[in-house]
Amino acid sequence: MTIALAKTESFEQTLARSNLQPLWDRYDRLLTAEPQVPDQATLWRWHDLLPFIDRAANEISMEKSERRVLMLANPAFEGKPFATTNLFAGIQILNPGERAPVHRHSASAMRFVLEGKGAATVVDGQHCDMFPGDLVLTPNWCWHEHHNDSDTRCIWLDALDLPLAASMGTIFSERGEPSKQRDALWHIDDNAFANAGLLPDSAARRNAYSPMFRYPWARTVAALAQAPEMPDGSKRVRYVDPTTGEPAIPTLDCYVWQLAKGKPTVTARSSANAVFAVVEGEGSSDIGGRRIHWQKNDVFTVPHWTWASHHAAAGARLFYFSDREVLRRLNWLREETQA
Ligand SMILES: [Fe+2]
Repeated sequence: MTIALAKTESFEQTLARSNLQPLWDRYDRLLTAEPQVPDQATLWRWHDLLPFIDRAANEISMEKSERRVLMLANPAFEGKPFATTNLFAGIQILNPGERAPVHRHSASAMRFVLEGKGAATVVDGQHCDMFPGDLVLTPNWCWHEHHNDSDTRCIWLDALDLPLAASMGTIFSERGEPSKQRDALWHIDDNAFANAGLLPDSAARRNAYSPMFRYPWARTVAALAQAPEMPDGSKRVRYVDPTTGEPAIPTLDCYVWQLAKGKPTVTARSSANAVFAVVEGEGSSDIGGRRIHWQKNDVFTVPHWTWASHHAAAGARLFYFSDREVLRRLNWLREETQA
């Protein structure tokens, strides 16, 4: 094949017509000395979300929607519903008496309950109550539905690895068929962690996620009480698969930090991204030169490779989820602290 070289055309333009690019003029843009960060720390205040939550609850019918979710879409991602790199966050609302139908998807999800008094998620046949502070897993390809038989609206934070799954080209989903019997449709897991510390001797490990799908808030608080203090006075616990000690869902590694009264956390940065939700208390975070003031149920991001420190005059508890374990397994996790 001969490509005509017009006098006005650069070598690079000629290459482009043959689906080629030169590396020599863009090496430094591709192999940057440090990670490029498209977004800044972003805050969604609960106070600002409430009118939209009310409006969605009143105007959007569950008969016409698979899920009633307000997606936290950071403008840095040009219309894609990403909270930060690799992480999706949404606010899901279920009114009393409503049911969100059974479905499953290859993207993993977890739900951190912000408000409510007794809605539930059923995950592969396991009934998981949803009270404030509870974490419920709906891992990769598990059937799940949400229902609210209480008399109070239930609102939770949806955490998904959807951006990562989309970039890997691995999105699959399937709706349940209401005509089928539930037990025939759902895989009922008889290894449901009713007895801590005991597993069927015959159990073969099948999945890369925790077989325990509900982490009640009271147990998180008890674990925090037992946890050692970090040098900055904070206490930190990680949600793990009880059979391995590894993250509950590898793509959504999540933690609760209990901040010491009046003492900022050590300033740190990581090549991993994080989305925080304020469970209890109020305070502020300095993230990449920005100061964010937060209170209960606010959601904010800490983008990768951005210095961050958190502070609460009277103490606080923060839940967060991240892509940290994905990066660690791929040998891309770097973390630093300031002295
Ligand atoms: Fe779902």
